[in-house]
Amino acid sequence: MEYLEFAVELARAAGDILKHYANREKFVELKGRANLVTAADKESEALIIDAIRRRYPDHSILAEESGIVSGQRGESGPGKWIIDPLDGTTNFAHQYPFYCVSIGFERAGRIECGAVFDPVRNEMFSGAVGLGSFVNGERLSVSDVNRLADGLLMTGFPYNMRERIDLHVAQFRAFLLESQAVRRGGSAAMDLCYVAAGRCDGFWELNLHPWDTAAGLVILEEAGGRITDFRGNPFSVYVKEIAASNSRIHSEMLRVLA
Ligand code: IPD
Ligand code: CA
Ligand code: CA
Repeated sequence: MEYLEFAVELARAAGDILKHYANREKFVELKGRANLVTAADKESEALIIDAIRRRYPDHSILAEESGIVSGQRGESGPGKWIIDPLDGTTNFAHQYPFYCVSIGFERAGRIECGAVFDPVRNEMFSGAVGLGSFVNGERLSVSDVNRLADGLLMTGFPYNMRERIDLHVAQFRAFLLESQAVRRGGSAAMDLCYVAAGRCDGFWELNLHPWDTAAGLVILEEAGGRITDFRGNPFSVYVKEIAASNSRIHSEMLRVLA
């Protein structure tokens, strides 16, 4: 599929920029109290946007640092690229090796394909509706853990977590008590790919943005996973709640979130 191949190509090229900056001094700017942006975020995003505008001038782009970039046919043109040029900036700035580039492609309101590239491990996660999902060409499939008590979960906390700290802590506490263990990786896109790969069994978070989840959504669903909001309604990348799992432990996760 043309768009998937392009997403993969771009994610790899942007990943090379992250590699270039990875072991250098980081010039970190603050977007909020703990919300960082580095030269790597900006350069990675510029490369991706530039390449899309040249190849698909009609398409629109939604990118974390630039917002909406309308294509020649406006925002509702023939396709929309949803980009996180560096998911896991805080990790990256601290040299904690868990971050990635995430690129999803949306058409007619549905995410059709996406690529997530981890430049540290050279792992390219990719997926397209109906075609399955893969890591470095190997097919992905979720775990067969079928009890929450046996599950390894991932989560994350939004930059505005202070506003609802009691809720975040209550959810974290409940899952700690009900699962085998909980991890906070620091890259939502990678968390979704890890559920897809069966490296963990479930993930939840509040207040994510479309660029955090677009590519991971299709990668996980194509690996047999399930993604909803906290009540079990269909998930959209424009929704602020995400509960994702290997499908088997989903209803137990929703019970804890209720
Ligand atoms: C963040 C990461 C993190 C999640 C935050 C996101 P960024 O994205 O995905 O895991 O907990 O909510 O904002 O800022 O590193 O691109
Ligand atoms: Ca992000
Ligand atoms: Ca980012």
